Amino acid sequence: MQRPEFVVDYAPRRQFEAFHDRRQRFACIVTHRRAGKTVACIYDLQRAAVSSERLRSRYAYLSPFLKQSKTVAWDYLRSAMAPLRRLGATVHESELRVDYPKGGQVRLYGADNPDALRGIYLDGIVLDEYADMDPRVWSEIIRPALADRGGWAVFIGTPKGRNAFFELWRRAQSEANARSRRRWSAPTTGS
Ligand SMILES: Nc1ncnc2c1ncn2[C@@H]1O[C@H](COP(=O)(O)OP(=O)(O)O)[C@@H](O)[C@H]1O
Ligand SMILES: [Mg+2]
Repeated sequence: MQRPEFVVDYAPRRQFEAFHDRRQRFACIVTHRRAGKTVACIYDLQRAAVSSERLRSRYAYLSPFLKQSKTVAWDYLRSAMAPLRRLGATVHESELRVDYPKGGQVRLYGADNPDALRGIYLDGIVLDEYADMDPRVWSEIIRPALADRGGWAVFIGTPKGRNAFFELWRRAQSEANARSRRRWSAPTTGS
């Protein structure tokens, strides 16, 4: 048997297994706090950046505030990439970015700093706490950034009244979108 090149210390919680196996371009996750969605998304982004066959693949994690991205996701990304350091993965703290050996990148962004996202292309993005973002960040900046390379997107959050996330969640539920969208809820606590 071939030995793996590296071992990542991550066992997905049961409720996120189907998420990691998804084939849909757009996905929507609704969970309670501390369910493990940010961790699941960081590992999902890293796996994409490591395994993508695309040239210079670009993956992004977006939360409402850049500072929030740094606080909630940077430590997860740093520990996720640690086993890949010896293969050449590098950390760029000032840009909240990790570069992987084959040229893929994962970078953290904030919806309060959309200029950093203008003009880039993306192969995949996670929009965490999407309910707290200005929906124009999606329509005016992210959607065009994904268009070039047919990138994917995952929306995460909790519906708070009838906001943009609620509408998205409802659309994900509709049969009409069943082929291209999928939603998950992870109502249970713990692993
Ligand atoms: N697959 C996992 N294995 C072990 N611990 C995990 C896993 N997923 C999440 N955790 C831990 O659970 C806590 C909450 O995770 P987090 O992803 O921040 O939750 P959420 O984003 O849903 O609020 C953190 O302490 C994190 O380290
Ligand atoms: Mg989170």
